[in-house]
Order: sequence, then structure tokens, then C-alpha cells
Amino acid sequence: MARPSVLVTKRIFPEAVAFLRERAEVDYADSDDGLPPEELIARSRGKQGIVSQLTDRFTSQQLARLEGVRVVSNVAVGFDNVDLEAATRHGILVTNTPDVLTDTTADLAFALLLAAARRIVEGHQFVHSGQWRRWAIDLLAGHDVHHKTLGILGMGRIGQAVARRARGFSMRILYNDARRAAADVERELGLEFVDLPRLLAESDFVSVHVPLMEATHHLIGAAELAAMKPTAILVNTSRGPVVDEAALAEALAAGRIGGAGLDVFEREPQVDPRLLELPNVVLEPHIGSATVDTRRKMSMLAAENCASALDGRRPPNLVNGEAWKD
Ligand code: DGY
Repeated sequence: MARPSVLVTKRIFPEAVAFLRERAEVDYADSDDGLPPEELIARSRGKQGIVSQLTDRFTSQQLARLEGVRVVSNVAVGFDNVDLEAATRHGILVTNTPDVLTDTTADLAFALLLAAARRIVEGHQFVHSGQWRRWAIDLLAGHDVHHKTLGILGMGRIGQAVARRARGFSMRILYNDARRAAADVERELGLEFVDLPRLLAESDFVSVHVPLMEATHHLIGAAELAAMKPTAILVNTSRGPVVDEAALAEALAAGRIGGAGLDVFEREPQVDPRLLELPNVVLEPHIGSATVDTRRKMSMLAAENCASALDGRRPPNLVNGEAWKD
């Protein structure tokens, strides 16, 4: 039987490429540049699998041109770069890499929260630039985290992992989600389910953990920012377009909220220039899951998902189950 063929659109960890090469012919785009849409289509000809990343866009039109492709295996937990409905229509399986990145991403969300509250980046720059001449009573005085109120938007795997960390800081935890968490999860994590207006009004920190979809696009806009406490800190490690970036920059510049910790942006890698000017904003280049261990596991999981589909086995992390035919 002929070996299947796979396109890997961008650099991944070498173990994952070796794993795929044992099972398939691999066309490896061994670069961080990503393939322009037309090249991706051209190189997908004759392939049954694609190992993709969140920077590859699979629109309905693109998916219609992926002749013979059986699986798009995303190296990410998010899959908003793929039109899922169109993929299902074309019988293309779509997979993601959940679980392996949950704690790593929650760690970064908490790091951003702490860094913004305790002015860690400002302090680092202060020392580095030689401005530190004497101790002063209110030098770089920030905000307490312990015993404060954290509002979590989206109580999925990562939201729960953030709540677990917040418990270690004796925080009160409010949350809002389209679906209420199970009673035992609420009990174990000490969660209080509230509506969005109450969460915004009462939280000292708001951390966003919802997937990007039509219903969550600009979930946090000018009105929501205006409803937050003037000292509140917004943390976003989910997807940029969940927050209206222009409205956020405006609210921060006007001092309507206290600060922000952002790992994701609306037009990555571009960042609203106003955010770059503000000392109370901590910015990271979409590194929520970026530890060596986790990115290696994500690469392997994507390779395994792809190999399963090509073997005719249901991939463990299939996100469009309706496309699966036994
Ligand atoms: C994801 O997995 O969706 C992250 O945003 C990238 O690691």
C-alpha cells in the first residue's frame, strides 16, 4: 500500500517530524515564515494530511481547494483559524492539542496578572536603566493580589487551572461562562457563578479564557471596560479579537482601568501603538504555551492526531466529530 503524504506548514519540534516520517512521506516547510495561501494549496496537492499552526488560515474557499486532504491537524488548542463548518462539509477532519498546554498557559496568565499588579517590568527597567538611587516608601507601589477578587471569563480547562492558582493566593473567584461549571468543580475551586456585569463591577482582576467565535468576538469592548473598577487589571491569554484592542488602549490611556497583561492581539504580530507607550501594560508575543516541554508535547500530539487519521483511526483530539465516518 502506498505511504500517505503529509504537509507540515511550519517548523515544529524535530521528534514530531521524525514520528511522521516513520509513517508517511513528509513535505516539511522547515521555517518559521509559514506558507503563503497559494503555496499552501499548491504544496497540499497529493497530500492526505496537513500539520498546521494558528497562523495558517483555512477559510471555506481554501478548504474547498484541499483536494484529497483528510485531516488538518493544528498544533494549538485553539482552532479559530479553521472554518470548522466548511471543513466538516468537505469531509476534512480537524484536530487540536488540548490538555498538554493547560497548566503552562495558566502559569503565563498568572505571571501576567502578578507582573501587572506588582509592576515587575517597570521595576526591572528601573534597575536596568540606573534610575535606582534610593529606597522610597511608595517606590513602584502596586496592587495586592492576595485576598482580592478575580473574575474569570470562560471556565474551561485553562480557566479552571487559573482558578486553582488563584486559590493559592486566597483570592475570591467569580466566573462567567455560557455554561455553568459542574457543582463539584465550583465547590472544589470555590467558584461563584455571576453574570458579566457583576463580574466586571466586582473584580480586581479579569482574566479571559474563552475561545474565539462569533459570540465572543469583542466580548470585552468599551462598555465592558467602562464597567470595570478604575484599578482593575485585564489579562488576556486567549485570542486577541475577544478584546476590542482599540477600546482597551483608549481605556488604559484615559486611566479608566488600572492596567493590563496581554499575550494576544487582534492583528498579531502588530500591536496597537498606544499600548506600547503605557507603563501599566505588560505585553508578551503570544507565548502562553511556550515552554520547551509543552511545545514539544503539542508538536507530538499534532503528529499523532494526523497519523491516526491517516491510519483510518479516529484521532484522539478531533474537534469536528460530525466529519468522522466509521
Ligand atoms: C493555542 O494553543 O491555541 C495557543 O494560542 C498557541 O499555543
